Amino acid sequence: MLSVERLSHSFRTGEEDTPVLHELSFRVEHGQMVALLGSSGSGKSTLLNLMAGLMKPTRGSILIAGQAIEKMNENRLAEFRRTHIGFIFQSYELIPHLTVRENVELPLVFQSVGSKERKERAMTLLQQVGIGDKSELFPSQLSGGQQQRVSIARSLITKPAIVFADEPTGNLDTKTEKEIIDLLIDLNQNSGITFVIVTHEHEVACRTQRILQLRDGFLIEDSGSQEGVAG
Ligand SMILES: Nc1ncnc2c1ncn2[C@@H]1O[C@H](COP(=O)(O)OP(=O)(O)OP(=O)(O)O)[C@@H](O)[C@H]1O
Ligand SMILES: [Mg+2]
Repeated sequence: MLSVERLSHSFRTGEEDTPVLHELSFRVEHGQMVALLGSSGSGKSTLLNLMAGLMKPTRGSILIAGQAIEKMNENRLAEFRRTHIGFIFQSYELIPHLTVRENVELPLVFQSVGSKERKERAMTLLQQVGIGDKSELFPSQLSGGQQQRVSIARSLITKPAIVFADEPTGNLDTKTEKEIIDLLIDLNQNSGITFVIVTHEHEVACRTQRILQLRDGFLIEDSGSQEGVAG
């Protein structure tokens, strides 16, 4: 499903290159739910953005469904991302002047799916994430947890191969956080969706099948690796 091979990344700041990720290698199988843990600045968001094709790595390879995304040109990558990759942001990133249903439908507009099918698929997902009754409201009329449910529905509407989430519960209170994690676990277990979730929270990580932990850009723990982390 996802294969990361000797992935390294540096940011250019002024005169120097600052290395942020160092030769990371791991695989995520279809249907897995993986937590990416690490302290602030350890490189979690950078790794997630690379895996989701939001930026190009300095070195190494990222294969999703067998295809090396770092080799794709801009148009091909944009198309691949639209059809194969879902992304959930900490801050939801909903469009304020579109209704909840229109926000969820939006990725299908870019795929030229007809309006009737768009509406049906959006409504099915909104019901699945527990807010079928909010479809005609605007994002500002929803609580934070409800807005994140919209964003989860939107990430799933194209039936992506894998969904990445960067601290999806970072803006939520503890009770709502638990509800959102329950929802993601349910989607993983009952709909077979593959998730990689960045989190600071060990409680969240404890509920996933597998933990990858970064420290200073190195992979220091992989609970799902039989050989342990190669040094
Ligand atoms: N665009 C950029 N330009 C230069 N340096 C960057 C850039 N983005 C991130 N960095 C640096 O890369 C390192 C890793 O950042 P990253 O955002 O991946 O960490 P993180 O683990 O997601 O942290 P947090 O938990 O605070 O979100 C940090 O030292 C950061 O300063
Ligand atoms: Mg981050």
